[in-house]
Amino acid sequence: MIRIAIPTGRMLEQTLDFLRNFDKKLLGEEKGRKLRIRGERFEVFLAKPWDLPLYVEERVVDLGIIGRDVILEQERNLVNLLSLPFGYCKMVIAGYPHISLEKNGKEIKIATKYENIARKFLEGKWSKIKVIKLNGSVELGPILNISDFIVDIVETGKTLKENGLEIKEVLFESSACLVSNVASFVYLRDEILSFVKEVRKLNDKCN
Ligand code: PRP
Repeated sequence: MIRIAIPTGRMLEQTLDFLRNFDKKLLGEEKGRKLRIRGERFEVFLAKPWDLPLYVEERVVDLGIIGRDVILEQERNLVNLLSLPFGYCKMVIAGYPHISLEKNGKEIKIATKYENIARKFLEGKWSKIKVIKLNGSVELGPILNISDFIVDIVETGKTLKENGLEIKEVLFESSACLVSNVASFVYLRDEILSFVKEVRKLNDKCN
């Protein structure tokens, strides 16, 4: 049985639907509060997206389905097996329409959950930046005037629109990724590779 951790929240339903293509016995739990679901091939653990890389790196699970945004933010020791065809979003810099991204030598304040990504992408861009780490609803940064811009993911664009903000620049595109750790990849090599092969086949069929 392969132990796999998947994210609760926005990607949960899509992830369970995806896994059911490979394990018909994984029954629906997305509306319940159960954190462990057993099928015939997978034992699935429902975890908070930001905790997933830790579970995979610490080898308490063999595989994880994690957004590329969280993988890039945390830079843990993971084996990235392949990108999956769901969980699409963009990492962007966003702000009010009347505030431009120009470099005028002033310190630029950025509110974000993605502290490392913001530094990595923006430190070379502007000479002075201040990254303000928030735990969510980062759109409040410009609204409450504690930041000039935000760095955040955008999926439908609804949150930005409803808060009067717009995309200034796309930093990268993100989707769900299948990851493992070196130990699991060695011990469960055949099971994991055959799963990866089936996923590729399904992706090809859908394209
Ligand atoms: C994410 C992100 C945006 C929103 C974007 O937040 O941080 O706020 O979704 O989605 P949209 O483009 O479809 O509107 P999430 O819902 O994960 O909650 P959070 O703000 O608490 O992080």
